[in-house]
Amino acid sequence: MTKPIQLKTSFRHYVREFQSHGTPVPSGLQELLVLLTDTCITLSNEVAQGALIGILGSAGTGNVQGEVQQKLDVIANDLLIAGVQSCQSLAGIASEEIEEPLPVGKGLGDYLLLFDPLDGSSNIDVNVSIGTIFSILKKPDPNALLTTADFLQAGRTQVAAGYVVYGPQTTLALSLGAGVDLFALDAVSGEFLLIKQGVRISESTSEFAINMSNMRHWAAPVKRYVDECLAGSGGVRQKDFNMRWIASMVADVHRVLSRGGVFMYPWDQRDPKKPGKLRLMYEANPMGFLVEQAGGEIINGVDAILDLQPQALHERVSVMLGSKDEVNLLRKYHTQS
Ligand code: AHG
Ligand code: MN
Ligand code: MN
Repeated sequence: MTKPIQLKTSFRHYVREFQSHGTPVPSGLQELLVLLTDTCITLSNEVAQGALIGILGSAGTGNVQGEVQQKLDVIANDLLIAGVQSCQSLAGIASEEIEEPLPVGKGLGDYLLLFDPLDGSSNIDVNVSIGTIFSILKKPDPNALLTTADFLQAGRTQVAAGYVVYGPQTTLALSLGAGVDLFALDAVSGEFLLIKQGVRISESTSEFAINMSNMRHWAAPVKRYVDECLAGSGGVRQKDFNMRWIASMVADVHRVLSRGGVFMYPWDQRDPKKPGKLRLMYEANPMGFLVEQAGGEIINGVDAILDLQPQALHERVSVMLGSKDEVNLLRKYHTQS
């Protein structure tokens, strides 16, 4: 049971008030969450200024994933790293944009922070929603030297996960392992205020999201699933489906949390050795934590993503998430083949 908290409570008060089964949020985690979300507010203000402060366009550099970095990928990464440095309880950071984990201070403390500083890079310059995705783990031994292996924990062990969407409104979704709560950035106070407690993803849906331009590369079960959606009321599904694809995972997942749906970025044959496009530690695990906490499911086709044992910090994974009934059907098609 989570304690009901009054709507429009500020995030600072929320983390102090939040209780699951009578257990409050540890003070070290409260400190980390406040520093992190304050930094996202700074980032939101910069995103809103865009070209006026010269932050659009390519940085002309590449990251560890071999992707071209946008200026905002670098700015967001630097801001987030700087923003949590004073956190006493944080031992280390892993980011999609940096090859090796960074210790914070001496690398000692209770928590590890992982993030995709800027999700939806291809949408920055066209003024479409982008965001930040984060995951918080417990450091296995708070007093031992920080290692990469400390971060390689299955998604189910996360103590918190969330995202911030920089869209028409700046919205924060957070789970502390007891449901999912939503906050909106209030321009007047400059703070995140609680707008919804206990978000639930509807079990059924008639909306799907996938990059259709990759259709010819998909595996047979994904092709079958999408073909059946496209066949509409005249096909085996006997209902019409709608498609939405924003190409920012944060915005697509926010839609799924808001009104149901299924989102897929599956493995495909473009690069058969690559398990998928999305990253397990910075995208799939934190989003999976939120989706499961809201009553949805997330799989790689066969297995629950949150049960996967990560092998490497930057590993990629095939992702299918959202409304239970649809994800179950996708699992059925994958296990039958
Ligand atoms: P990032 O900007 O962090 O690299 O992530 C982009 C991801 C994700 O947000 C989105 O779902 C997907 O890439 C979009 O891929 P397409 O270019 O295939 O649309
Ligand atoms: Mn991303
Ligand atoms: Mn990114």
